[in-house]
Amino acid sequence: MKSNRTKCCFLFSLLINFAYNTYLANAETHYHNFVIQPTPVKRLCKTQNIMTVNGQFPGPTLEVRDGDTLVIKATNYGKYNITLHWHGIRQMGTPWADGPEYVTQCPIRPGGSYTYRFTIENQEGTLWWHAHSKWMRATVYGALIIYPKLGSSYPYPKPAREYPVLLGEWWNRDPMNVLKLATITGAIPNVSDALTINGQPGDLYRCSRKEIVVFTVDAGETILLRIINAALNQQHFFAVANHKMTVVGADAAYTKPFTTNVLMIGPGQTTDVLISVDQPPARYYMAAHAYNSAPGLKFDNTTTTAILEYKSASHSAQKGHLSRPILPPLPAFNDTNTANAFTVQFKSRSKVDVPLEIEENLLFTVGLGLINCSRPSFRCEGPRNSRFAASMNNVSFVLPTRNSLLQAYYQGTPGIFTTDFPAVPPLEFNYTGNVSRGLWQPVPGTKVYKMKFGSRVQLIFQGTSIVRIEEHPMHLHGHQFYVVGRGFGNFNPKRDPANFNLIDPPSRNTISTPPGGWVAIRFVADNPGIWLMHCHLEFHVSWGFAMSFLVENGIGEKQTIKPPPLDLPQC
Ligand code: C2O
Repeated sequence: MKSNRTKCCFLFSLLINFAYNTYLANAETHYHNFVIQPTPVKRLCKTQNIMTVNGQFPGPTLEVRDGDTLVIKATNYGKYNITLHWHGIRQMGTPWADGPEYVTQCPIRPGGSYTYRFTIENQEGTLWWHAHSKWMRATVYGALIIYPKLGSSYPYPKPAREYPVLLGEWWNRDPMNVLKLATITGAIPNVSDALTINGQPGDLYRCSRKEIVVFTVDAGETILLRIINAALNQQHFFAVANHKMTVVGADAAYTKPFTTNVLMIGPGQTTDVLISVDQPPARYYMAAHAYNSAPGLKFDNTTTTAILEYKSASHSAQKGHLSRPILPPLPAFNDTNTANAFTVQFKSRSKVDVPLEIEENLLFTVGLGLINCSRPSFRCEGPRNSRFAASMNNVSFVLPTRNSLLQAYYQGTPGIFTTDFPAVPPLEFNYTGNVSRGLWQPVPGTKVYKMKFGSRVQLIFQGTSIVRIEEHPMHLHGHQFYVVGRGFGNFNPKRDPANFNLIDPPSRNTISTPPGGWVAIRFVADNPGIWLMHCHLEFHVSWGFAMSFLVENGIGEKQTIKPPPLDLPQC
């Protein structure tokens, strides 16, 4: 009897082993060379040298399956420092490959190179990659698509075609100079000159008609659009004329399907939608324009378009009856109701494992500020002779320059950062009320918040009305989080938690605070390393709208940061 059981166990473990090996055999390693180089690109009647990867704009699309490994050698032939970030990739055990400049690595200098290596673990859907150094991501970005493992499939019928749709912003000058000027003056940086879909502004701009992006479809099929907001500074409304969209995923996590005419997407976010190609064969515009939640803020109010073209319609187009596609209606620029009504519909597909007991209960105020002009050497062209700033819990984040945070931590180098980032605002006040001027000036600092491995975290992002209210798309590196609640005004710790969704909240890597409101997230800090968290509006980051978490090592090798790769760039 006993020996029989041993035999059976042996056979069983053999079977498991076999299954595991086939699984490993199926996982692939993809090697890529990313050559960062200036490339002449013509938009809006003007040719400019922009930084690209391999001469492509947008950059190459990475396509992998869950479980695969990516090995990307980045070589910098440009004139600026650069790093690359794989937005939304969990980077379990590979913090050195995350990429934010001076956080997990020093930048790749002109002429230098660095190889990013990481494995995709339990993620499926749409992500993207982008430069993570000043404003380099304006032109250095691309899609990162994660298909299900071999033998598994989408939790919805397989679409006939799939298209990445990257929303972007275009400047008629070097974006790095736009940033430089704003840094000198302390004022708001110039807004973009065009919005783009897959790098093209589309029909409504000068000299852009011929290059408009066309997505070909066949009547009767269902297609998948992987929409990515790669814009630097703007949230977008997006719609397709006469076609409804069914949202099925966001930020590389599946969602409970819901149907909508328009979507709102913040920088950093991705949204996967299915579209039934069931309208009279013709050409239909897809269009995007700004959702600008900040009253009085100057923004790019243009509209970018691409075309959804039924094949049968393209035949008649060749014969010369080309009718102008119709534009989808888009909400007003400041339509917060529509934006909010869209965002609250996101749910996970089924019940998920939300942390219920919380070890780290955090409240971070997030928003803008103004720095009074003290030194005459500074130009102060912000409101009332000041410079714009931004902060979390009143700390305006300053990147180190002598070392990256992760290297300093790993090597135990003192003097690069401190671990006293506050868990709650240093001062309680009516965050969304009429805030007294004495509270408008944040304090610059390089502070991290330290957490034990495995901590279960609740974090409330509380928007403030300092300077102005505005949506802030908050992005956390190295983790997915559940969005358990959101509301307008001040978060009320007595009343609001009762309404949290602890059953099927959406899993995301970027979520926006409503203008003058709050959003609550929960996650487990299960990834040792240093992880940047910031508003994904790049001009806000430039003003200090960021902080970092330090997640300590746990027990054993798997829960401990590995030594850095030998080619990690040095400062
Ligand atoms: Cu999409 Cu810190 O980045």
